Amino acid sequence: MSMEDRDTLISAEKNREMFDRIAKNYDVANRAISMGMDQSWRRKTIELLKPFRGGRYLDIGTGTGDLVFEILQQSANVLVDGIDPSEQMLAIARAKAAKQSVGDAVSFFAADAVNLPMEGETFDGIVSGFCFRNIEQRKKALEEMLRVLKPGGRLVVLEATYPENALVRLGYKLYAPLVPVIGKILGGGSAYQYLVDSIEEFLKPEGVVALFREVGFHDVQCKPLTFGSVAIFSGIKKAAE
Ligand SMILES: C[S@@+](CC[C@H](N)C(=O)[O-])C[C@H]1O[C@@H](n2cnc3c(N)ncnc32)[C@H](O)[C@@H]1O
Repeated sequence: MSMEDRDTLISAEKNREMFDRIAKNYDVANRAISMGMDQSWRRKTIELLKPFRGGRYLDIGTGTGDLVFEILQQSANVLVDGIDPSEQMLAIARAKAAKQSVGDAVSFFAADAVNLPMEGETFDGIVSGFCFRNIEQRKKALEEMLRVLKPGGRLVVLEATYPENALVRLGYKLYAPLVPVIGKILGGGSAYQYLVDSIEEFLKPEGVVALFREVGFHDVQCKPLTFGSVAIFSGIKKAAE
């Protein structure tokens, strides 16, 4: 079975159904399952994105918008689009934006990573958190990201990875069965079992790096965090010569 045929690769429509179901408690579940570390991972992700004043950014699979809000924290005067197929997740992102009075700086709307409704060379940077693993056609999604990036623009992807160190993997295996239990308590049904399964079946970090390179990203890097349980992948669209 090739990687692209795995059970845990599901369409944007199936993702939409799943995330619509768990949207209400998504943020709480995130904090609980990551043992409070998720926001520091997002902060580091945006530090690698290096947003600058006047820049235009895209968050793919924005969910409840936390990476978008982190971009706003780290840089003034930016424009950020957050896209996601799940209207329920987007509704929470919009409510958070209204509460933070971010005004026109941010726009959240429904779209699929494999078919971005933007013109080529629109964004100075693209970010995506805990979404890449869920995308059915990852190569196509990366090609779309490359297309809408401006030359010299940067892609930064934060993703859960299966730890490679034997000792860390043992700790992970002991912890993993608790994740669906926490998810069920928070009303997530089977979605959190999917989370555990999809992390186990996800590409190894070197596979993600190879895919970035195959699509044409340059200066591709992988920064493992928290003993390899998550990683930040980055790459640059080559500037015109
Ligand atoms: C685990 S959540 C992550 C949300 C947010 N990025 C965060 O850091 O918390 C994954 C999100 O990716 C979205 N997603 C899944 N497949 C997608 C696709 N093909 N295109 C865009 N977003 C997608 C889901 O709807 C979901 O909201």
